Amino acid sequence: MLDAKQKILHLLRSERPDPVSGELICRHLNVSRTAIWKNIEALRRDGYEIEAKPRSGYRLISSPDILAPSEWQTGLKSKIIGREARYFKSVSSTNDAAKELARLGAKEGTTVLAEEQTSGKGRLGRVWRAPSGAGLSFSIILYPKVNPMEVSQLTMLGAVAVVNALKQELGVPAGVKWPNDVYLQGLKVCGILAEMAAEADQVKYLVLGIGVNVNQRSEDLGELIHSAISLRAFTGRKISRSKLLGAILEQLDFLYDLWQEQGFAPVRTLWKENALWLESPVQVSGLHEVWQGLMEDIDAHGALVLRLADGSRKIFHSGEVSL
Ligand code: BTN
Repeated sequence: MLDAKQKILHLLRSERPDPVSGELICRHLNVSRTAIWKNIEALRRDGYEIEAKPRSGYRLISSPDILAPSEWQTGLKSKIIGREARYFKSVSSTNDAAKELARLGAKEGTTVLAEEQTSGKGRLGRVWRAPSGAGLSFSIILYPKVNPMEVSQLTMLGAVAVVNALKQELGVPAGVKWPNDVYLQGLKVCGILAEMAAEADQVKYLVLGIGVNVNQRSEDLGELIHSAISLRAFTGRKISRSKLLGAILEQLDFLYDLWQEQGFAPVRTLWKENALWLESPVQVSGLHEVWQGLMEDIDAHGALVLRLADGSRKIFHSGEVSL
């Protein structure tokens, strides 16, 4: 259900660049002029620039780059991903909020977003940081009918969705680093953290958490400057996070559908088309050992196939790859 503020925004948007008379808004929403004025003021406080002229009415001049669903949900071409959303200005971690919603039975595809995470989580117990309003931090609730062993396929699917969206929206040459990091110019631009609840052979829910470095300035990256990059630093301009989000959600929706229909094979092909370092010498760091070899392939389950110097193959289900 849209509230009065969202309905007014919707009207202003649909008439843009023309103004909408106060009288028309009153009739549409069945509220008083004072109520309209209060909602316009609230929208202005949210960062919307709205012109008010006595005889013509209200005109939307510009919108803030916020991740509120009103900024990206209208016109989103997806079947399930992003159809339902929960938006926070600040939350501990969108993954934690999404897990709580999944436990309460939220619909598949529900997307949890935040301008700021106070305890953003990365893989392997690391911290994920982004200044408020600069990054894209969101988590998607899925109920895939799979064995927990197969969940890595969905994190790889997530990475392909981000790469496709980055190419389509911004034309940037992004690639995937096994298993699910997105890289640009040799530096990390996006990370994915999947968390799930499962029984022995069936996933109960999966939360796919995605963090993209979007509008951070180089100085915001701090000590990560040698390993990470933002889209703003790469392109030299500020990027609309809400537009990029819409593109990623549409890609996720398309690929998730494809995966449900045809399994991992087509996703694997797309992943390989965008892979970094395939057929190159790499090293894979496991928990206790570092292995050198040729990154030969990704197998039918998404595991990394390393060809060792003695010609034998070693299969990795987890680990850190580097050049
Ligand atoms: C990585 O270490 O590469 C994974 C980073 C994942 C970060 C995202 S941001 C949205 C979601 N919420 C979290 O707390 N983490 C993930």
